[in-house]
Amino acid sequence: MEEIIIENMTLKDYYNIEDVLKTEFDNFWNPKILKEELENKYTKYIVAKINKKIVGFAGIKYNFSTVEIMNIVTNKNYRRKGIATIMLNNLIELSKEFNVSKIELEVNEKNISAINLYQKKGFKQVGIRKKYYNGIFDAVLMDYFL
Ligand SMILES: CC(C)(COP(=O)(O)OP(=O)(O)OC[C@H]1O[C@@H](n2cnc3c(N)ncnc32)[C@H](O)[C@@H]1OP(=O)(O)O)[C@@H](O)C(=O)NCCC(=O)NCCS
Repeated sequence: MEEIIIENMTLKDYYNIEDVLKTEFDNFWNPKILKEELENKYTKYIVAKINKKIVGFAGIKYNFSTVEIMNIVTNKNYRRKGIATIMLNNLIELSKEFNVSKIELEVNEKNISAINLYQKKGFKQVGIRKKYYNGIFDAVLMDYFL
């Protein structure tokens, strides 16, 4: 596959994918919040690009004692090529800059792709938040120790 470049996500990047967020990436939680996150000094978002096209993005938020993974999404046409793994490795490196000891996340129990991705990288399940998603599905809480 062609070279995957990781860069900090800019507002220009956001506007480039704004119209295709729901169709090409995911039924994304809230584009408006994503835009606000880019302006928040406690969050860092990255994009993965192939030939200048954005094929994925991901972000973390610094919560003083920990870092939380806010999102990690690969374009539907580019999945299962290792792009999320590259982004996750990059987020782990970025997290080290905050001098925290662990990275936290929560993921829908039904999201097997994401759970596999995180487990493969060494994230461990540390808890369950019952019926967290739409009052139906549990959230799986996972930690990665730096
Ligand atoms: C989860 C997601 C980010 C994975 O992206 P990706 O670029 O396809 O992931 P990778 O190619 O790096 O896959 C890494 C590992 O994740 C797991 N995985 C990825 N897709 C999977 C699938 N469809 N089924 C089962 N496991 C899967 C596998 O263990 C895979 O390793 P392998 O290919 O060696 O078996 C992608 O499916 C996605 O964008 N989903 C929608 C958004 C989302 O749910 N994000 C996570 C919650 S915030």
